[in-house]
Parts: sequence; structure tokens; C-alpha cells
Amino acid sequence: MKPVRHLIEVDDLTAAELGMVLELSADPSPSRALEGKGMALLFEKPSARTRHSMEMAVVQLGGHPVSIAGDEVGIDERESAEDITRTLACYHAAVGARVFDHAVVERMAAVSPVPVVNMLSDQAHPLQALADILTVEQVFGEISGRRIAYVGDPNNVARSLAIAAGLAGAEFVMASPAGYRFDAVDLNRIANTGREAHVVEDPDRAVDGAHVVYTDVWVSMGQEAETAEKMDAFVRYTVDERLMSRAAPGAIFLHCLPARPGLEVAEGVLYGPQSRIWQQAENRMHAARGLLTFLLGAS
Ligand code: CP
Ligand code: NVA
Repeated sequence: MKPVRHLIEVDDLTAAELGMVLELSADPSPSRALEGKGMALLFEKPSARTRHSMEMAVVQLGGHPVSIAGDEVGIDERESAEDITRTLACYHAAVGARVFDHAVVERMAAVSPVPVVNMLSDQAHPLQALADILTVEQVFGEISGRRIAYVGDPNNVARSLAIAAGLAGAEFVMASPAGYRFDAVDLNRIANTGREAHVVEDPDRAVDGAHVVYTDVWVSMGQEAETAEKMDAFVRYTVDERLMSRAAPGAIFLHCLPARPGLEVAEGVLYGPQSRIWQQAENRMHAARGLLTFLLGAS
């Protein structure tokens, strides 16, 4: 029997497998990998893109999505994360989870007889990174050798994107203030993809010559208590028109959304001519379909 495959972080895929997922994402005649089957989608935090892109990807694969709010099942309160997962796997061919604590989705995967997909944790957002790489490929044809500059908080989105960029052969440069940096474990994990992440303090240095300029909110879901401190720390890190003008000709702007225009990104950049945010949002669905086809086929 083949081992069950999960996606908890992007490096659960090899570089070759990432390539397969991206190819499947672009397949104009998707498989019916979920024909007559269900996928449980468990959300401890709010979501617009992830819930809808996953639900529609499941439908496009012939399946039936069932979305559940975290407090409906009471993760580790009404029932352990392990028993909730074992229960959902009685009815569903796959389980997705958006959780506060990354360890919870790891515990789910550890006991699950069906694929578990991390739909965002405090540490990782691999589904987002798949859609981001797909978007860069669509725009530039080839991602290998492209420079991705991420300006802002080294958060879940940044970490998964750095790992995905490394696997895809892109250069990843992170600009963040001192005190907000990937730790040694993160940097090692990124380097294990075959490409090291560069870390700088100055946003201008990161963006110089970049093909992709990326940012995300400074305060992620669950970090609200850090808001005042972070507003001070990141004040020089807004992606505005001046910063974008340092990027390579033809450079694009990406943001996983939801955005806070006027904070991490100027409104003129977010909705400006270089922005590909809606293509990126649409790609969440295509990437989810590609990933589910891969995981169900490989497990
Ligand atoms: N980018 C993203 O994951 O959006 P949601 O939080 O709306 O799902
Ligand atoms: N970093 C953000 C991403 C939201 C899609 C958060 O975790 O809230």
C-alpha cells in the first residue's frame, strides 16, 4: 500500500512533484479524482479565498466539499484533533484544516488515513505558495532564475513562498526589520530546497531588479496583540510606487490578500497596472485542483 501523502508545508513535495502539481493545475480537462467522494474543510479562522477555492476545486474534481467551523467540532476541547481527523476520514477522501497552531495540523496528518492539506497555520500557507508560483509561471513563462522580493513580515505566507521559490529555482530575497527575521530553522529548511533565502533590512535592496514584489499583512490572524508594536517596526516597509519603480522592467506585484491598503501596500500599487492580485486569487482554485489530483493519485 502506498503511504498517504499530505501537504503540511510545500517541501512535502519534491521539486519534481511541485512541477507535476503545477502542470495538473493548468490541465484544461481535470480528473474526476473525487467523483462521488467528499472533502472536509475545517476552519479555525476566517477565510474567503481558501474556503471558496477549495470548495470549487473539490466540485470540479467531481466531489462534495463540507466546510466546518472550528467551534462546531471543538478542536481539542470537544474532541481531540486526532479523533476529529479519524472521524472525518470515515466519510471523506481528504481533509483540509486552517488552524492557529501548526502542531495541530501536523497531529492531524500523523493519524490520518486520507490526505491532509494545511489550509493555513501560524507557520505555513502552502496552498497560497502553489498559486503564487503558478501565477509567476503564467506571467513570465519560467520561474527559474527570477528574483522574488518579499517586503514585510516573515510570516506563514513568506515562509511557504520562500520554500516554494527555492524548489522552483527562483531567487528569494526577504526585506524585514531587525527583530523580525526567519530563524535558523527556517533558513535551513529553505536552504534544503537547494536555494538559500537572502535576508536584508533595506526594502530598496531587496526590490532592486526584482521580477516579483510580494507583501502580506504585518499582523496575521491570531497576532492582534502585537499590532501597535508591529505598526512601528514596519513603518518603512510599505510597498509603494517609489519602491516598485526600483524593480525590473515588467515586474509584477503580488499579495495573498486580504490586504490593508495604506499599510503594507499603497492603494495605487495594490490596484495598479503591475498588480496581478486577481489572477493570483483565481489561481488558488486551479492550484488546489492540481494539488488534490496529485495527492489523491499518489496516496
Ligand atoms: N489568501 C488567503 O488565504 O485568503 P483567505 O484568508 O481569505 O482564505
Ligand atoms: N499572514 C496572513 C495570511 C492570510 C491569508 C494571516 O495568517 O493572517
